[in-house]
Amino acid sequence: MNTETTRVLSAMRPNGRLHLGHYLSVLQNWQQIQYQYKCFFMLADIHGIINNYQASQQLSETMNEMVIDWLAAGVDPSQATIFIQSRVPEHFELASLLGVITPLGWLERVPSYKDALDELEHTDGNTYGLLGSPLLQSADILLYNSHYVITGEEQAANIELTREIARRFNHLFGREDGFEEKANASIKKLGIKKAALYAKLLIKYQQDGNDDALDTARYLLQDALNLSHGDRERLFAFLENKGKVFLQEPHILTGSSTRIVGTDGTQMSIIRNNTINIREKPEMVSSKIRGMITDPARIKRSDRGTPSSCPVWSLHQIYSTQEVSDWVEMGCLSAGIGCLDCKQPLIDAINLQQHELIEKAKPYQEDSTLVKRILSDGCGRAREIASTNLKSIKHAMNIDY
Ligand code: TRP
Ligand code: SF4
Repeated sequence: MNTETTRVLSAMRPNGRLHLGHYLSVLQNWQQIQYQYKCFFMLADIHGIINNYQASQQLSETMNEMVIDWLAAGVDPSQATIFIQSRVPEHFELASLLGVITPLGWLERVPSYKDALDELEHTDGNTYGLLGSPLLQSADILLYNSHYVITGEEQAANIELTREIARRFNHLFGREDGFEEKANASIKKLGIKKAALYAKLLIKYQQDGNDDALDTARYLLQDALNLSHGDRERLFAFLENKGKVFLQEPHILTGSSTRIVGTDGTQMSIIRNNTINIREKPEMVSSKIRGMITDPARIKRSDRGTPSSCPVWSLHQIYSTQEVSDWVEMGCLSAGIGCLDCKQPLIDAINLQQHELIEKAKPYQEDSTLVKRILSDGCGRAREIASTNLKSIKHAMNIDY
């Protein structure tokens, strides 16, 4: 696959300040991948509201801070397209169109919907928005014909739904105009000998149902190096009488699975209120780490501890050099160092990383027009692609009068 035209979409719901978990597991990954693929990074503001109506009051501020965090982490607006979901209304139009062909049962079975229902206090909360949330997510992805979606494993079922919707759409509307003629033109590109063989295998499979002929024809296409990607896809589809693949079925691309513990020793997350945020002030980092839970066996300074039962140790493994880690291990096992001694080099290492993020964020904080401009540029670019794609999707559905 040509990596220049391989499209990747990723998104975040703006529901609070980003923390070190986001930085290590998502943003560092985005920063690297933006140079390999054509990346779209979206602020999923409407998904944020679906899950929390109240959040809409702070949304504008939260999104501003979020974009600054992205930029501070090295996301480069000249490489990647940064945009806001609601500023590209094509997302909602596509979601409605896909809703036309999406069986209700598919949406009702999505695990994240069932989980959300379990948490509801009132049945009024069981909104269409909640049910339709994975459908909107599918539209987010399919609108850009994304090959990959960067997201955590917990979203796997939603991406699978997106694939099913794409497949269903292709099955119902996928045939492009003049498909037959185009396929014949593609066959000619195989060269005389291979074209004749392909035609023979096609008949054998389509008229006699000979599966071996299908396999042989597939090999033939795979080996035909002079065929463009589009021609090959078309001829694969032609074999099975399926029409052109129209909507891209996305694959999930999971980032690094760095799980980082929060100050209470459980996984760092906004709802647990145990985070160290991106661009946290040095004094805050210091006081949060100093207050962090340690090995419960070390009550007094003279008690020996076991690093593997201490959440501070798991942060050392991410942030500290081998030398420091060895010092921690020895000092903890022998009670040679106290927990505050142990925490200090960790505080320093985190603050060193934070310093870089804080510095990179400064210009964007000082001049609020910068983020505005980046977003308006990104939304414009996203919208251009979205409207072109939506137009051809509507054309495929024969809504083009
Ligand atoms: N639903 C995702 C979440 O809850 C956010 C999201 C919206 C998303 N649209 C997306 C993620 C498209 C990946 C691709 O976090
Ligand atoms: Fe944890 Fe360090 Fe204290 Fe050991 S010395 S219990 S590793 S904080």
